[in-house]
Amino acid sequence: MRIYLIWICVIWDGPNETNAQNTTLSLPSAFLGFQLSMSCEFTEATLGFTWVRSSNSTAFFTSVGSIYNVFSGSQCVPPDPELAPNPSLYSFSCPSTSRQTLTIKNVTLGNHGERWQCGAFPLSGGRSYSNYVILSILVHISKLEMSPNVDPVSLIVNQSAQFTCTSDFGRPTPFVYWFIDDKTNKESIINITTLSVITTLSENATISTLAFMPSKTYHNMRLYCSGNNGGPTVSSSLKPLLNILFGPTQHEFNYNGSMVAGSLAVLSGMSFLLTCKSSGNPPPAFTWTYPGGTATGENLVISRKGSTTRR
Ligand SMILES: *[C@@H]1O[C@H](CO)[C@@H](O)[C@H](O)[C@H]1NC(C)=O
Ligand SMILES: *[C@@H]1O[C@H](CO)[C@@H](O)[C@H](O)[C@H]1NC(C)=O
Ligand SMILES: *[C@@H]1O[C@H](CO)[C@@H](O)[C@H](O)[C@H]1NC(C)=O
Ligand SMILES: *[C@@H]1O[C@H](CO)[C@@H](O)[C@H](O)[C@H]1NC(C)=O
Ligand SMILES: *[C@@H]1O[C@H](CO)[C@@H](O)[C@H](O)[C@H]1NC(C)=O
Ligand SMILES: *[C@@H]1O[C@H](CO)[C@@H](O)[C@H](O)[C@H]1NC(C)=O
Ligand SMILES: *[C@@H]1O[C@H](CO)[C@@H](O)[C@H](O)[C@H]1NC(C)=O
Repeated sequence: MRIYLIWICVIWDGPNETNAQNTTLSLPSAFLGFQLSMSCEFTEATLGFTWVRSSNSTAFFTSVGSIYNVFSGSQCVPPDPELAPNPSLYSFSCPSTSRQTLTIKNVTLGNHGERWQCGAFPLSGGRSYSNYVILSILVHISKLEMSPNVDPVSLIVNQSAQFTCTSDFGRPTPFVYWFIDDKTNKESIINITTLSVITTLSENATISTLAFMPSKTYHNMRLYCSGNNGGPTVSSSLKPLLNILFGPTQHEFNYNGSMVAGSLAVLSGMSFLLTCKSSGNPPPAFTWTYPGGTATGENLVISRKGSTTRR
């Protein structure tokens, strides 16, 4: 009895004997570049199963293959070589007479949007089709590009700076997080994600924009972003060292180790040392002016009495 002959026809306008209650097609999430095992189950023992799919651009289902549990004394075989699923794309197994699996060996972006359906051949005859499933292919992001692309990056304290991190193609849209790595402080990581907003231009690129307010405490730390959309977490390849530029702090006079405010009484004829204290990045330069001269440098030695003015 060549009951399978009807399946030689590979294109038709979709199965019409859908019986979702008795035949079930189920599958896990589909990831680009991985295999995908689809499982078809009938409520009781079957002769075998058939598998059909349509591409996302056509309504027509085409036969992928049919597998019988037993045929001509062989187990889990197509009833005709022409009905074998393309072995370079698919593999199959028959875990029981009521269940079969078909595996896409290597999921591609071309599988995205495909509709799949399986059908059982009940022992009583006929066929019982499953629900159909539309494949959504998940794609893990693999890199994040930071802009500006400079390391180290010099920023002026208290002047907002903008950084972006752009991912490659990913589905679903990735999350992008931002961190400052304080290597000097036992690997402590500061999470500054709340300063960022995420924009998705297309599936091909998700951009996270960070509005960063440089503070002196971030000097010599590293900025980076990391992202995730279900796969391994990806960090930006660039982790620029932050060079925070800040102007000289309010300077102060020192004389003999203590701060001087106002005027200073010194003994006539003695030389004395005045020090001007201030910090900045890059370090500030010092210029002194006093009656009778000018000088540079942090320290000033006056070898006769007089009052100095500072600039
Ligand atoms: C499921 O199968 C049973 C027995 O095989 C049948 O009586 C029933 O009608 C089927 N369900 C549907 C929805 O056809
Ligand atoms: C899947 O296909 C891609 C693209 O053709 C290829 O680069 C990759 O190596 C394949 N993976 C496996 C597991 O065969
Ligand atoms: C069909 O799949 C291709 C990728 O193979 C995709 O680019 C296209 O957007 C899809 N079309 C629809 C209507 O989903
Ligand atoms: C930067 O801003 C903070 C907070 O507003 C302020 O305390 C600090 O003095 C500012 N630093 C500089 C160098 O302007
Ligand atoms: C960083 O902060 C964001 C937003 O507040 C949060 O969703 C994320 O889980 C945090 N990540 C880590 C590693 O703490
Ligand atoms: C998105 O990426 C896919 C695959 O890399 C490519 O075929 C498609 O043209 C890209 N779409 C856009 C809008 O750049
Ligand atoms: C400098 O300070 C020390 C101790 O504070 C004091 O003994 C000394 O007399 C001071 N010298 C001058 C020149 O004021």
